[in-house]
Amino acid sequence: MKSITLNRFFLCFIFLISLCTSAQKKTERDLILIDKDWRFSFGHLYDTQKDFNHATGYFSYLTKTGFGDGPAAQGFDDRAWRKLDLPHDWAVEQSFSEKASYSHGFKTAGKNYPEKSIGWYRKKINIPETDKDRIISLKFDGVFRNSKVFFNGYYLGTEESGYNGFEYDVTAYMNYGGENTIVVRVDASMEEGWFYEGAGIYRHVYLQKTNPVHVAENGTYITSELKENNAEVTAEVTIENKGNYKGAIEIIQTILDSSGKQIATVSENATAPDFYKTTNYTSKLQVNNPLLWDIENPNLYRLVTQIKQDGKVIDDYETAFGIRTIKFDAEKGFFLNGKSVKLKGTNNHQDHAGIGTALPDELQYFRIKKLKEMGSNAYRCSHHPPTPELLKACDELGMLVIDETRLMGINDYHLNDLKRMLERDRNHPSIFCWSVGNEEWNIEGGIVGERITNVMQQFTKSIDTTRPVTVGISSGFKSGISSVVEIMGYNYMGNGDIDAHRNEFKQQPGMGTEEGSTFTTRGIYFTDDAKHYQSAYDKKPRPSFYSIEEGWKFYATRPYLAGMFIWTGFDYRGEPTPYGWPSVTSYFGMMDVCGFPKDNVFYLKSWWGNKPVVHIMPHWNWSGMEGKEIDVWVHSNCEEVELFLNKKSLGKKKMELYGHLEWKVKYTPGTLEAIGYKNGKKVLSEIQKTTDNPENVKLSVDKENQTNSNVVVVTVETTDKKGAHVPTANHKVTFSIKGGKILGVGNGNPTSLEKDRFIDDIELVTITNFEEKKLSSADSNQKVTDSDNNWKEAFKDRDYKNQAPAYVYRGKFDLKSNLKTNTVTFFYKKIGVNAVIFVNGNKIAPSKEDHQKYVFNSNVLKEGTNTIQIIAPPLQKVKDWDVMNTDPGIIQVITPAESWKRKLFNGYAQIIIQKDDNTNEVVLSATAKGLKEGTLVVKK
Ligand code: GAL
Repeated sequence: MKSITLNRFFLCFIFLISLCTSAQKKTERDLILIDKDWRFSFGHLYDTQKDFNHATGYFSYLTKTGFGDGPAAQGFDDRAWRKLDLPHDWAVEQSFSEKASYSHGFKTAGKNYPEKSIGWYRKKINIPETDKDRIISLKFDGVFRNSKVFFNGYYLGTEESGYNGFEYDVTAYMNYGGENTIVVRVDASMEEGWFYEGAGIYRHVYLQKTNPVHVAENGTYITSELKENNAEVTAEVTIENKGNYKGAIEIIQTILDSSGKQIATVSENATAPDFYKTTNYTSKLQVNNPLLWDIENPNLYRLVTQIKQDGKVIDDYETAFGIRTIKFDAEKGFFLNGKSVKLKGTNNHQDHAGIGTALPDELQYFRIKKLKEMGSNAYRCSHHPPTPELLKACDELGMLVIDETRLMGINDYHLNDLKRMLERDRNHPSIFCWSVGNEEWNIEGGIVGERITNVMQQFTKSIDTTRPVTVGISSGFKSGISSVVEIMGYNYMGNGDIDAHRNEFKQQPGMGTEEGSTFTTRGIYFTDDAKHYQSAYDKKPRPSFYSIEEGWKFYATRPYLAGMFIWTGFDYRGEPTPYGWPSVTSYFGMMDVCGFPKDNVFYLKSWWGNKPVVHIMPHWNWSGMEGKEIDVWVHSNCEEVELFLNKKSLGKKKMELYGHLEWKVKYTPGTLEAIGYKNGKKVLSEIQKTTDNPENVKLSVDKENQTNSNVVVVTVETTDKKGAHVPTANHKVTFSIKGGKILGVGNGNPTSLEKDRFIDDIELVTITNFEEKKLSSADSNQKVTDSDNNWKEAFKDRDYKNQAPAYVYRGKFDLKSNLKTNTVTFFYKKIGVNAVIFVNGNKIAPSKEDHQKYVFNSNVLKEGTNTIQIIAPPLQKVKDWDVMNTDPGIIQVITPAESWKRKLFNGYAQIIIQKDDNTNEVVLSATAKGLKEGTLVVKK
């Protein structure tokens, strides 16, 4: 008896404790990545019906709050839409056409493709009751472009720019303890740039939950001042209050080093800001003997900002930062931590083979590592703010950055974009300069440009005092923008006399924001305009432009110039100068769109890097060219280089500083060897050997890749019987994968019109000619009549007070084909109490997992017109004004994608794979006609 009472007491105690804990709300910050499991469908630019009748309601979402209609409505049925994970770029998934945009790489999306310019995204999320009292926001890193976001049918706002990050507070619209719907309508019909920009939600999306009193969006600003060996860190934090709390708070700011060790901490007592107000607090922290951030050792610290209320932590916000000094000197160039650093930079767009603009984070690191490997130490974000992950990669890997806003101007559109870039990015130690514009031809040489620059420059200083401002300028040196900009950004020596400008503006530091706009095709050594081939030798591209070598010689030998940024590090889609269709990517890159090096990479490695280099170009597979002269170039930083053909010396030559060496060699198969000497001693050698025919497909993981990451970049090539890479191979390779999925394929061929992605085709087929006939009984097994008598338009003039016991409906739907491999599914929407479905007279059973889903077997279907019949007792109105559903649903036809494949281009292709979440290993196989299969196993 006694023990029973005790047990009861114990159970009550446990119950009470669990009540307390479940009632206790989590108050600190959560940042939840919500990239997975979105639904996607194309809408239409101007055909409202094809845009799911969005914005057609009598009251629109701008008339009455919560009136988002069509897909914007919470209850919209999106079961037939494609499932996908973000980041997503729908433009890269499209085919090519000569009629499509030159700038966007001839992909059939955008303005001229109204059916491929609007993309709808929908996602459902559950929010627990315990989140009541928290502020919940949606955080988008960037959507291309002109996005409207809805939450549970409520319109949240429009973000025009494709490059801004933005947040929406959704707290007021929340359905706690249940489902909530996020809807994004993306309109990519306009272009913002003149280069490939992708389309869709191509950056991450997060759900953020905070206490009402919290660190505001991008709410920290960390600067530091070095005093002898110590750094005084100023940590400014903006606190926002979206609740009713009034009273004391404590702000604790702590600096941690990269190992997580606490370095400094301060705490301040403050008062919470008023309702919907913000307040700034500044703390000073001391870091003794700081490990400075630089290119070789990108040391980072973390500032943890905590807010406490009644002794309890209510927000916890982390900011990575670095301690370093930067300085531009008009005479001596750029200084990092007091040391002179020549900027060896590249311009880049964020676009990669197979993937487009929806770069997985791992690929950002891959690309920055490739640039570093080339000897580059600086990156210009041309011509828009990048993804946060690009800046993170630059911070962590040691790459200096020019961060650039999209459009020049002094109005809200321009200054608000600029402000958002500055506030988002100003804690990144990698950023050493802001750029407020590029080649604004309309204004750069004149007074308007001068005025706008003055405003944008001062505006920038009002948000970040620590970095200078530049503009990339291509004309009108000495006037307009160039007469007032803080750091002169020269776009191309050919556009004006750089020395003359500098002589007039002696106090103005300068750098080459764009230089060396050369055209080269990887692995091609003879220009062939008919094939759109540009040879890989570094030559002056056009009369007024300069080669990479000419450019570097100019900048390297002028101390007053801080350095130069090559146009570009990687090839990118769009701007296929000097050709045009059917070339779809640029030829400017030091590397192709995959990141495979062109030979110029070795010129740069020689003079930008710090390791000995000897590189021979071209390859030595010239069957049919026997006895003919071939230009052989050697890129090297050795003092002398000697070239040998089949062990016979072709002469030793002295290397000029920042130069290269050339020989004319009569082709004989065999081995070409170059030996580099320093102080008369052999330093290293390189060979180019004539290979045998390809025998194997080889798959390998690039060393710039983290194999332990989820996304792996795989190199595809062929080898001969001795395992040597065959540089001329152009085989078509077919891939299959287990334990992962393929994200994209590429090969760096500017004229390749092959698919980047192989995805299932989803067609949504509507039911037309929807008619009805009254039935005298609700018996669902009654015989279906298809006689043409008494059919009338379904639901027309329906007297809801006087409905028949049941109705039979019939409609038509067209199938372009009736392939056995297709999956045809009818997503029925309730038009009756229950329903029996017939297709071409055959009764169809609902699927087990969803009773309103019917999968049609190809046996009951035919190519062309099919008939669907639905027998259903009608739904009754509860209130007179109830709006009844009259839409029977949609038919989805999935045509499975073909196998992933890609041709090699001059020996190489690339395949980007992503491991499945719960897999231990991924097995990728590659086959090509006549060759031995290649396999790659990547372990988790
Ligand atoms: C520059 C421009 C770049 C790119 C390049 C191609 O004028 O700033 O974005 O278009 O030309 O040559």
